[in-house]
Amino acid sequence: MDWGMENRMSQLLQSDGRCFFLPIDHGYFQGPTTCLEKPGETIKPLLPYCDAIFVTRGVLRSAVPPACSKPVILRVSGGTSIVGKDLGDERITTSMEEILRLNATAVGVSIFVGSDYERETLLNLTSIVNECERYGIPVMAVTAVGKELEKRDARYLALSCRIAAELGARVVKTYWCENFEKVVNGCPVPVVMAGGPRCETEREVFEFVHDGIARGAVGLNLGRNVWQNRHPVAMMQALRAIIHENVGVDEADDIYRRVSREK
Ligand code: 5RP
Repeated sequence: MDWGMENRMSQLLQSDGRCFFLPIDHGYFQGPTTCLEKPGETIKPLLPYCDAIFVTRGVLRSAVPPACSKPVILRVSGGTSIVGKDLGDERITTSMEEILRLNATAVGVSIFVGSDYERETLLNLTSIVNECERYGIPVMAVTAVGKELEKRDARYLALSCRIAAELGARVVKTYWCENFEKVVNGCPVPVVMAGGPRCETEREVFEFVHDGIARGAVGLNLGRNVWQNRHPVAMMQALRAIIHENVGVDEADDIYRRVSREK
């Protein structure tokens, strides 16, 4: 691995090999998502506890201070909306010149395996990998399912993650599922978990995150279950402790309760 790629990867995965990304890219197809209407205000108290942010160029420019020292994973696929025909019909939205100008540490692109747009989205991935590799910029593939949330089982996610890695993704972001080790064991690059829609309780979040880490995920890219929570700073601290301090579910719950009382 060349120095630039290695340097960027080490900004994503910390010295313990783990990572905690804060995604605020939802507006690129959902519009002003609940609690993300003003992304700059939402992330301000959360930034100290994340290792990187996942964001589009529009929100980066309008809501993230340029002096922000957190690595930026730039969302570079899109072109669809929640009210449109098919969320899978994405293209690459951001030029290589813009990726460099914005000083992105990495980029993120969705693939929709098994959808009508499987081929197009996989070729989106390969084209951005071809360009980014020339400049030492890692590509994170996002195994997206659009509105078909029931697709998220180990067989499907293992298939999607493996394909993403085979096509050149340096990191793969996917959903947690039962038997998560099947997903991780079949994927030759680090696997990061996303959250999906809000869970009913904080404990449910801590349980799936703890389970996924125990089964080999290197970290987390969690949005709604953090910033839609009543105590997002407490969520960040509790989740950070699971990822970087190997605490269990009970201890994470204690941290959440203690910090939420303080705020
Ligand atoms: C949205 C994304 C998000 O980054 C990802 O889904 C994580 O957010 P959440 O935990 O809210 O699902 O890729 O397109």
